[in-house]
Amino acid sequence: MRALNSIFKRSYEQLLENLKPKAEAGEPIEFKQVFGAYTMDIIAAAGFGLDKPKDLLQMMLNAHNDKDVNDDEALHQYEKDPEKWKKRDCPNYDNIQKMDYLDRVFSETVRLYAPGGRTGRQVEKEMIVNGYKIPKKSEIMITIHAIHRDPEFWEEPDKFDPERFTPENKAKRHPYCYLPFGHGPRSCIGMRLAQVEAKYALVYILQHYRFKTCEETEIPIQLTKGGITKPANGMKLKLESRV
Ligand code: HEM
Repeated sequence: MRALNSIFKRSYEQLLENLKPKAEAGEPIEFKQVFGAYTMDIIAAAGFGLDKPKDLLQMMLNAHNDKDVNDDEALHQYEKDPEKWKKRDCPNYDNIQKMDYLDRVFSETVRLYAPGGRTGRQVEKEMIVNGYKIPKKSEIMITIHAIHRDPEFWEEPDKFDPERFTPENKAKRHPYCYLPFGHGPRSCIGMRLAQVEAKYALVYILQHYRFKTCEETEIPIQLTKGGITKPANGMKLKLESRV
């Protein structure tokens, strides 16, 4: 995943360029429009734009195990030097790993707004769960969204609280209470890619702008009811320059 640094950088810089005209005109941005293009750009660039072509699927699987090696040794040396490190301000694979609070914010966001609201499994053999017989070959629907908002597992479930994801708090919960990317051998292979992509964009945008609600922002936001969670009426925010 580290090997993708330069590709990600091109994409998040382009994202900021796309945001600039609206920010300067004081107009709201429509999230799906700009971030949808960013995601497509990342996937296309990662799949086809590598200097040393690799198989994208293999790279995502490596990313799961965190075993990917750095193709760019010069960059790696740069990261190891604390003096140079301080001056470096662009997000990259290594520095975003150290941003604990960013990780908590990301985790809490996909708890409340899990993009995949549900997943499924087929039952291999008949079993009894809580007194219910589940026949062999049944299709089971796992309601990620409902589990993420269940007061049995989450205190004040509708409240946005990144502190739920401190290491201590995470250790207190059953792992199946939190399934934004599913669980087990068939969990999402794009998880690391999705996480770093979102974190790069967030860090880089916040280095330049603040997000502001405006007249067009729908509060509380209405979500669609399909399998993919998304704002029913779009999500509009304004950007305020930090410089
Ligand atoms: C925020 C972004 C994403 C979320 C929330 C997400 C969520 C999920 C979930 C919940 C599953 C079902 C896992 C399970 O049942 O245990 C899944 C599966 C999958 N995801 Fe993602 N995903 C995201 C991004 C991506 C990306 C960027 C890719 C590819 C580039 C990807 C590729 C896949 C594939 C191929 C599977 C099927 C895995 C299998 O059946 O073995 N996902 N994802």
